[in-house]
Amino acid sequence: VEQGVKETESDPQVRTVGFGGYTDNKGIVTLDACIMDHKNNAGAVAYLKNIKHPISVARKVMESSKHVMLAGSGAYNFAIKHGFKKHNMLSKQSKNDWLKWKEDSKNIPDDNHDTITQLALDINGNLAGACSTSGLAYKLKGRVGDSPIIGSGLFVDNNVGAAGATGIGEEIMKNVGSFLIVELMKQGYNPDKACREAVRRIIQKYTGEIKFQVAFIALRKDG
Ligand code: GLY
Repeated sequence: VEQGVKETESDPQVRTVGFGGYTDNKGIVTLDACIMDHKNNAGAVAYLKNIKHPISVARKVMESSKHVMLAGSGAYNFAIKHGFKKHNMLSKQSKNDWLKWKEDSKNIPDDNHDTITQLALDINGNLAGACSTSGLAYKLKGRVGDSPIIGSGLFVDNNVGAAGATGIGEEIMKNVGSFLIVELMKQGYNPDKACREAVRRIIQKYTGEIKFQVAFIALRKDG
């Protein structure tokens, strides 16, 4: 899952993950990511700057520290200490788009938020998941979404299944969406029904037109 997510993190055409992602309101690309394995190990980074593969730093946090999540300069310093190189994450396109948005805040792209979440079941029947994003376009400086939050952007229970999210992180976080889906699968919901129920619980709180998007993927232990 780390290797899969790295592909998307490297792709400047994907404007909401890794290099070439949309910036925050100050013109800076900040990254959130998390990873979980079949042994309930987890690692995450939030508000990470200037590192090309946040998912690899999340894995390093999981495997080489006693913590689950590092944020901001602490996450950056940890990455540098473990051999990651400083990398300018601002593509020309992202800078130009940010300048246009500063001129007129109506210049906001349709694809202004998204995430790569990858779930996998290996040949031994073990599950893993990884999640990475540059977050909401032109977010307030310091904003962190659901993607690095274990249980919100991603959850893996090797006895049951795995789930991951994309969409407006604020909505996903308030419902701990990925954990909810795995718990529902534990209670017997199939993956499709569990995802639908997680979406229903979010939208039921609103009346009228829903003006945001959330989506989930789920994988059950039996594949
Ligand atoms: N789901 C990505 C974010 O809201 O940051």
